[in-house]
Amino acid sequence: MADQAETLREIMKNKIALPEASTAARDADAGETKTRIITITSGKGGVGKTNISTNLAIAYAQAGKKVILMDADLGLANVNVVLGIIPQYNLYHLIRKQKAMSDIIMDTNYGIRIVAGASGFAKIANLTEEERKSFVSELSELSNADIIIIDTSAGVSNNVLSFVEAADEALIITTPEPTAITDAYGIIKIIATEMDKQNLGLKLIVNRVKSVVEGRKVAERMITIAGQFLNLKVDYLGYIYEDPAVQNAVLRQKPFMILDPKGKASICLRHIVSRLEKVEYRDGSGIGSFLRKLLGGKPRPGMDI
Ligand SMILES: Nc1ncnc2c1ncn2[C@@H]1O[C@H](COP(=O)(O)OP(=O)(O)OP(=O)(O)O)[C@@H](O)[C@H]1O
Ligand SMILES: [Mg+2]
Repeated sequence: MADQAETLREIMKNKIALPEASTAARDADAGETKTRIITITSGKGGVGKTNISTNLAIAYAQAGKKVILMDADLGLANVNVVLGIIPQYNLYHLIRKQKAMSDIIMDTNYGIRIVAGASGFAKIANLTEEERKSFVSELSELSNADIIIIDTSAGVSNNVLSFVEAADEALIITTPEPTAITDAYGIIKIIATEMDKQNLGLKLIVNRVKSVVEGRKVAERMITIAGQFLNLKVDYLGYIYEDPAVQNAVLRQKPFMILDPKGKASICLRHIVSRLEKVEYRDGSGIGSFLRKLLGGKPRPGMDI
């Protein structure tokens, strides 16, 4: 662990003196159309992150945006399962320089493009300088998207924190279950204490609610506690109803926005998109800023990135 932390510190230190990496980020800034980057995470597993990421991406695409969905989950590569896609290449091949971004990014039948995940992504911190430079410049290929949605794994890994820190906004997913609420508060607390950022852009989605009131009560409780104990602003973005169409869609490996566009869950997601569109997001956002932050986050001893 100590060795790993040392390596991470070393990489971060070297990064500052890495002109090529920052050039890639600057180039991305220059050519970009302000890509909005949204990370989706949770404290507890299984609360609906992958379904929300995927269907949110589709809802955005249906609203006319160019969307890329990136699977940064270190466990099972869920996004492609929900979409019923078997990707030939993934982020692992990109990091290992076996493939370029243009080779691994996949079109889908749903109007979105996806970047499939890989457990190899866990090793960002251990890349050589050369690998890291090329990784950054490959990621800058994504700058032609309007929206990048990043599905992460549950809980606190350095990987998740790096993405949350680098992205414009983090959507925290919880369900009304007490354990999910406690774990969501836990991750909000860790994000708040680990990061130097003033405005974290944290937004809460309460999934699997039985009523509007249930969603609002959960959100109000969390927002109040975050304000009182962490002095942190968390916005309530909305709720998604418990809807059997979600399970059904997972079983059929097709997104519920496609299978049941008029269903309760789909309607809720469209509301969430319109609320996201009303929220001003921070200055300094965009893929260039994302890349700089992604590889320049502060070292966290004892954790894999
Ligand atoms: N709104 C909903 N209504 C009914 N069932 C839901 C809803 N949202 C999620 N589910 C159920 O929860 C399961 C888990 O969802 P999902 O895989 O999206 O969670 P996750 O947070 O990505 O999990 P993991 O932490 O393992 O990555 C789904 O397969 C589905 O059965
Ligand atoms: Mg998932």
